[in-house]
Amino acid sequence: MRERWTIMVHGGARTIPPAAEAAHRAGCLAAVEAGAAVLEAGGSAIAAVVAAIREMEDDPTFNAGRGAVRNRDGDVELDAAIMDGRTLDVGAVAGLRGYANPIDVAAALLRDNAVLLVGAGADAFAAEIGAVRSGPPLAAPAGAVGCDTVGCVAYDQHGGLASGLSTGGLEGVRPGRVGDTPIAGAGFYAEAAVGAAAFSGDGEAIARLALAGRLMHRLPQLGAARAAALAIGQMGRVGGEAGCIVLDASGTPSFAHNSDHFAVGSARQGEGPRAFLHQNEFHQ
Ligand code: GLY
Repeated sequence: MRERWTIMVHGGARTIPPAAEAAHRAGCLAAVEAGAAVLEAGGSAIAAVVAAIREMEDDPTFNAGRGAVRNRDGDVELDAAIMDGRTLDVGAVAGLRGYANPIDVAAALLRDNAVLLVGAGADAFAAEIGAVRSGPPLAAPAGAVGCDTVGCVAYDQHGGLASGLSTGGLEGVRPGRVGDTPIAGAGFYAEAAVGAAAFSGDGEAIARLALAGRLMHRLPQLGAARAAALAIGQMGRVGGEAGCIVLDASGTPSFAHNSDHFAVGSARQGEGPRAFLHQNEFHQ
């Protein structure tokens, strides 16, 4: 039997100024449409996550790929990850420099024994697979109103679940700093018969709480909406902003955040796409 596919993307948990609202909604919709086209054609959740995240990496509205923020030295270091809920395979890179679509590099590592490559090792792997180099200008102008990590969770017609993230990290941080994005169980997780989750926000806080792991543990009992809200509620223990998008085992979507805004796009087979800047819009 064919399952009813679902896709949800996020463009970061941050305050979005009124002038940037339309761009965030449009960017989320474009990403959902790219992923939905894959799912509608019978493609895998993994392929849909890659298609959606690529779209957001190419859109300078978001802090990933082209729009990535700079670190303290003015350099751009990129992190990305993807997880296959069927096999529990993970591909992730951290501190990648000079590549247009880090999600492609993470996806190429998915069936490799290594789950995470960093720095020069990540760059060498990207070169080895012929990943597309980014042309200048690579980063958003210094001081630009950044957003945060982009992410995607997807459920395909064959029951496959996947989760992925891509980010430029946080602006002005120490070179070599890595947040939650490439760490399974911190920023993301996917497991068939449980669900999939992808976070955005203050990476140190999310990593300290192992927030994706906590959410997954509660998901079967609580369902997507309550598990998401409970995970975000945990942020009060360490402080900071976060948002998460979640699918349960049959693709029911939800999201939660404690930031002023959280740019999200969503579609299900026969429904959507829609974009939201706050969870109140989703639950109306
Ligand atoms: N959530 C992205 C980061 O902190 O790097």
